Amino acid sequence: MNIRHAALPVVFIAVALFFAARSSSQIRPKTMATPTPAPPSAREIQSARQSFAGYQKWRLVNAQPFYIPEPLAIACAPIAMPSDSDSPSGATSGSHPSKLGKFIRVFVNQKGRAAMFTPQGFNAKNPRFPAGSVIVKQKLATKSSRAPELLTIMVKEKAGWDAQNGDWRYIVTSGSGKKIYAQGKLKNCQACHIPRKDGDYTFRSYLP
Ligand code: HEC
Repeated sequence: MNIRHAALPVVFIAVALFFAARSSSQIRPKTMATPTPAPPSAREIQSARQSFAGYQKWRLVNAQPFYIPEPLAIACAPIAMPSDSDSPSGATSGSHPSKLGKFIRVFVNQKGRAAMFTPQGFNAKNPRFPAGSVIVKQKLATKSSRAPELLTIMVKEKAGWDAQNGDWRYIVTSGSGKKIYAQGKLKNCQACHIPRKDGDYTFRSYLP
């Protein structure tokens, strides 16, 4: 009788531990599948901001806004990013894909200019963007839009910053560039740009 009473709490604890272990093992695979990147520090945000300040005065690569078929226009945007949910703007939300721009305008800074205009195609040399190169892609709702809906940006960092992936920093901002939605070694951007390794991770499909 006494022994059974003493065993009761032990059984209770064992059962509790079992369920605790089970629920934590259920949570763990989920968080591993979608790792939430650490929020960027104030300094990182600041340096991301500086990298494209005044880009509107840079060299416009495509004189005419370049048409992007809708599926790609949606894909080359931060719809799968965790920071989406706390973004105040519908422009980056996956539930408003039709609002995403179908035209793009691309700007390149002085450092990236030569690489950007390296000829494409058969027998062409592969471009090599030097550190400090910055490419800004505006997404436009229509061909005649003045104000972009979104900016996607690539910044060539110093060699070794992310050597495996070409040392490119990816940034996504609101159309005005004021709100930085995400920046850094963004996996979902790399997913498409890594296969373009020969082009130094760029597409340059909009070149005239
Ligand atoms: C679905 C594939 C895909 C994904 C994902 C993607 N891109 Fe792109 N990106 C492209 C393509 C294709 C181009 C060429 C221009 C175009 O079609 O928009 C491009 C062009 C660019 C350019 C102009 C430089 C170049 O490569 O010619 C920048 C800057 C850019 N993307 C940034 C980003 C950022 C930042 C992200 C992550 C938010 C991202 N991209 C995610 C496919 C993608």
